[in-house]
Amino acid sequence: MNKWKRMLCIATLIMLGGLCVSCGVFNEEIPEEVETIEDDLIVVGYSQLGSESVWRTANTNSIEEALSEENGFFLQLKNARQKQENQIKAIRSFISQQVDYIVFSPIEEDGWGTVLQEAQEAGIPVILVDRTIAKRDSDLYTTRVGTDTYWEGEQAGLWLAEDLKKHNESDKEINIVVLQGTIGATSQIGRSVGFNIVANEHKNWRIVAQETGDFTTAKGKEVMDKFIRLYDDIDVIVSQNDDMTVGAIEALKEAGVYVGPNDDIRIISFDAGRAALELVQKGEIDVDIECNPDQGEMLAEVIHKLERGEAVEKEYIVEDKIFTIDNVDEYIEDRTY
Ligand code: AHR
Repeated sequence: MNKWKRMLCIATLIMLGGLCVSCGVFNEEIPEEVETIEDDLIVVGYSQLGSESVWRTANTNSIEEALSEENGFFLQLKNARQKQENQIKAIRSFISQQVDYIVFSPIEEDGWGTVLQEAQEAGIPVILVDRTIAKRDSDLYTTRVGTDTYWEGEQAGLWLAEDLKKHNESDKEINIVVLQGTIGATSQIGRSVGFNIVANEHKNWRIVAQETGDFTTAKGKEVMDKFIRLYDDIDVIVSQNDDMTVGAIEALKEAGVYVGPNDDIRIISFDAGRAALELVQKGEIDVDIECNPDQGEMLAEVIHKLERGEAVEKEYIVEDKIFTIDNVDEYIEDRTY
């Protein structure tokens, strides 16, 4: 960032801080030490989509740790609290501050064309973290760091086919309910498409119901409650994140359904946070497909590459693992989130 831009950025931040104080609004995202931004720090405006899940908190922590001052960054983080309009507002404020990079985790894939066009016109590179945006807008961002959500969904289907085979149930009629994540989010779309492609190869698998639980425990429980009332022959629950899975298990237990080793319902989850891995150990979750939240380090590396003027890939995929009762003990001790 050149000197003029930095002065403007600092002045804007101070002005915003002043406004917030005079309005009596406390804004934790505007740091007090703003006047002392070192000239050589890389200024990053980061719009996180919310704090809906344990995964999201881990993802935010990973980015905060990697983009620290000690690592040469000045990070301005804004939490959009699950609203796309808040993310758009945050991106516009980063543009007016002329930050060096705009980083954001898009709540859903559609609706970014106009604001990202504005970022492009301002000459500010945009980096996506975690989720992506619609293909038609792909020339409006520089690169993405995230997981392969299609692969995650596909692995869920492949595991189910394998497990049914192991129990000589490959030809049984299988009723599946799906707790979907936020509709239109990459993690919802990718996991649904990946799983459905495998499901379509099995004529005896029937997706009897699917509804969004918005990636939260409360909504996961609410939707599962409804499914239990509507269907008495559920064989498989595909829950697109751990938080909803926890809610679904609560609903099952409250309805008097046994969940544990040798139960009648297979539960497939995503994320593989520590608390969920403990449920894998207990035999409550049958398989947990990881969505690796540790994306900060790769993000920092990519920014450093751009700073050196090096070419970057359009996408950097962080590695995921699959956890079942057979391998979970090996990994749980080192789980940091
Ligand atoms: O986009 C990643 C998903 O978003 C995670 O699976 C989920 O827990 C989070 O809310």
